[in-house]
Amino acid sequence: MNTRIQAATRQIEGPLLKVTDLCTHFRTERGLVRSVDGVSFSLDRGKALGIVGESGSGKTVLSRSIMGLLPGRNTERSGSVVFEGEEIVDLSLRDRRKIWGREMSMIFQDPMTSLNPVMRVGKQISEGLSIHLGMDKQNARETALKLLYDVRIPEPEKRLDQYAFELSGGMRQRVMIAIALACGPTVLFADEPTTALDVTVQAQILELIGEQRRDRNMSVILVTHDLGVVAGHTDEIAVMYGGKLVEKAPTRTLFANMKMPYTEALLRSIPNIEDASHTRLKVIPGRPPDLVNPPKGCRFSPRCEYVQPKCIAEEPPLLTAEHVDHVYACWYPVGSPVYREKRAQLDRQGAGVPVGAV
Ligand SMILES: Nc1ncnc2c1ncn2[C@@H]1O[C@H](COP(=O)(O)OP(=O)(O)OP(=O)(O)O)[C@@H](O)[C@H]1O
Ligand code: SF4
Ligand SMILES: [Mg+2]
Repeated sequence: MNTRIQAATRQIEGPLLKVTDLCTHFRTERGLVRSVDGVSFSLDRGKALGIVGESGSGKTVLSRSIMGLLPGRNTERSGSVVFEGEEIVDLSLRDRRKIWGREMSMIFQDPMTSLNPVMRVGKQISEGLSIHLGMDKQNARETALKLLYDVRIPEPEKRLDQYAFELSGGMRQRVMIAIALACGPTVLFADEPTTALDVTVQAQILELIGEQRRDRNMSVILVTHDLGVVAGHTDEIAVMYGGKLVEKAPTRTLFANMKMPYTEALLRSIPNIEDASHTRLKVIPGRPPDLVNPPKGCRFSPRCEYVQPKCIAEEPPLLTAEHVDHVYACWYPVGSPVYREKRAQLDRQGAGVPVGAV
């Protein structure tokens, strides 16, 4: 990989990460599963991007595809991933391994299955330090301890010699973060890092990731199905639906002025803190699209309350909103005359609230 000076020079010239028309398809007996279908975005150093979408929308495949962490056989990948000015989409496994951990690392959803059950926590953290940074045993152990302090695990010395099963869910996730941070990555992917945790620990873990991002000037890609999770922890949000990026905007702009009816539905599916605890989780009615045979026009059209004939016939391109950093793929965005007319009609029929609030 390149020297830090080269990287810094390149950084001045462009974004840290630039993904262009990335496709990741899987050959299956049923046909080609288009899990990621022409996704483009860029990310600057030190920034946090949220990738949001329902289950199956392609968030994990997109993150893994950017890192080059995909099963080889039956996978077709095309497009471009430029990282620190260098095309990495066609790197050999040997060169990709040099990037993993040192340049890009990932916190996985379930720490219990990602941590090694028969290896002590300290060893799991120090292993990467020895392999990637060539640290000797003593130095790696001291650095592992410092990392456990950094991730604010209680009694860090004691944890070094414990196994994953001896730790709580929150502590295990902190260990995962320590492992991911060990070699000082430039980009950290956090794939649903808090779903298995209770609300208080969730907030602490998100705070921790944010704090480490600021301290290390690291970029973060935070993957979640919950718009509420990314609201206070990202600079920008990319919304995925059926393998496509359908809206992207700075976080504040998105919340103040979302354009996609799908984004609106996602927002309304966030549980309200005032709801009684027995209230049913709000879901978007209908099923996500079949990624082998997606709908011809807008992929959200079979589920969209505002659907018009044009939506079914023609796929909407990514359009730019009033704010230049805001793009969306919808023929009749939230607030447009057609949207307003349809909304009024639905209200008259007693639909009452937009689709996500059902
Ligand atoms: N190896 C594979 N072979 C075939 N299809 C796959 C493979 N991996 C993922 N998929 C399909 O790709 C689609 C996107 O999957 P992905 O795991 O990225 O979704 P996701 O948005 O991360 O969902 P979740 O929120 O449930 O984690 C899904 O329909 C999934 O079944
Ligand atoms: S293009 Fe049409 S179907 Fe798709 S989200 Fe917009 S209004 Fe709904
Ligand atoms: Mg996923």
